[in-house]
Amino acid sequence: MKKNILITGGAGFIGSHLTRLFVTKYPECHIVNLDKLTYAGNLENLRDIEHAPNYTFVKGDIENMEQVRSLFAQYQFDGVLHCAAESHVDRSISDPLAFVKTNVLGTVTVLTVAKDAWKDNFDGKLFYHISTDEVYGSLGAEGFFTEETSYDPRSPYSASKASSDHFVRAFYHTYHLPVIISNCSNNYGPYHFPEKLIPLCIHNIINNKPLPIYGKGENVRDWLFVEDHVSAIDTIFHQGKIGETYNIGGHNEWKNIDIIRELCRQMDVKLDREKDTSAKLITFVKDRAGHDLRYAIDATKLSKELGWKPSLQFEEGLSKTIDWYLQNEDWLNDVTSGNYQKYYEKMYGDR
Ligand code: NAD
Ligand code: DAU
Repeated sequence: MKKNILITGGAGFIGSHLTRLFVTKYPECHIVNLDKLTYAGNLENLRDIEHAPNYTFVKGDIENMEQVRSLFAQYQFDGVLHCAAESHVDRSISDPLAFVKTNVLGTVTVLTVAKDAWKDNFDGKLFYHISTDEVYGSLGAEGFFTEETSYDPRSPYSASKASSDHFVRAFYHTYHLPVIISNCSNNYGPYHFPEKLIPLCIHNIINNKPLPIYGKGENVRDWLFVEDHVSAIDTIFHQGKIGETYNIGGHNEWKNIDIIRELCRQMDVKLDREKDTSAKLITFVKDRAGHDLRYAIDATKLSKELGWKPSLQFEEGLSKTIDWYLQNEDWLNDVTSGNYQKYYEKMYGDR
């Protein structure tokens, strides 16, 4: 059992679920969450565990080598769960360099520090890199991404994640740094930032605003409940083989237009609105540049070798997600108004 674990990006969507799982499930481990608190990082996501005795939050930047080195010196980490990233494809189209900085330079910085800190004895150490299925590119109507699928990233976001994956493998082959990579499909669930399709549409339905569907809404994504993603990471972190890659997915493909229709249907019932009220908000808008048509994950290796399976059916996961947003409208309003960022500026200033 690893005793001291660094989670990067633990205040983000997936990172906060991962941090909560490790802090509560492994009280004997000390979890340090290093997060820059960009627009996507929000300490409200971790309010329920912030005082846990085995949890420490550190505001900081994965690109800051000195800071990362001093954290390794202070906590003598046995494991790293590297989650921090710029994660939104549309933002990568308007500002690719920000993605190179965080996703490539930041990853290589943390890899370098881990290699230097652990170089005398790699036993029991693990650098776990959390990545995406988008590195494999875009599928046609048929087929699935396996761990053997060639990389073919097509957006600045996926190119930066593919590059970070290559560096992780390069550190394994060149320096024997113990690494594992997982590539997951689209996540959804509580604390999802409302710039992404599902929480954006939940927010807009609540506020009777248009639901912007890119192109004809024909693009297909393979959706996985976020708690299932972090349970897969937990399984792989503890039972996966060093140097291996694992694909994570839910065998749950939906066209964007169909998922939004299902969301509208469920929200009309929950908001006690007349049938088809929300669907009237659907608005087809200009397509995303270079929009990947279809992602679909083959997670056979993970289920066969490590016995992991998703726990939730999609309709149930979507219902739980909508309920969470309806019960946490303050969170949604703070995030959309940027209130929490003003608070951080006051609390942390430039630190
Ligand atoms: P997110 O955007 O919600 O959170 C990213 C977190 O990283 C934020 O807390 C942010 O403050 C932090 N961060 C950003 N730059 C940083 C820096 N320089 N130093 C320290 N912290 C920094 O992202 P997410 O959706 O939770 O994704 C997390 C990881 O999972 C990413 O690596 C992403 O590529 C991967 N992933 C996401 C999905 C998905 O559907 N969201 C699917 C597969 C893989
Ligand atoms: O596949 C995993 C990836 O899933 C992760 O690596 C990314 O970090 C994560 O953001 C997600 O990427 P997508 O681009 O698939 O997610 P997004 O929610 O931005 O878009 C989902 C689909 O919906 C996509 O086909 C684009 C479309 N879309 C999105 C938005 C924001 C719309 O039609 N309208 C919108 O307003």
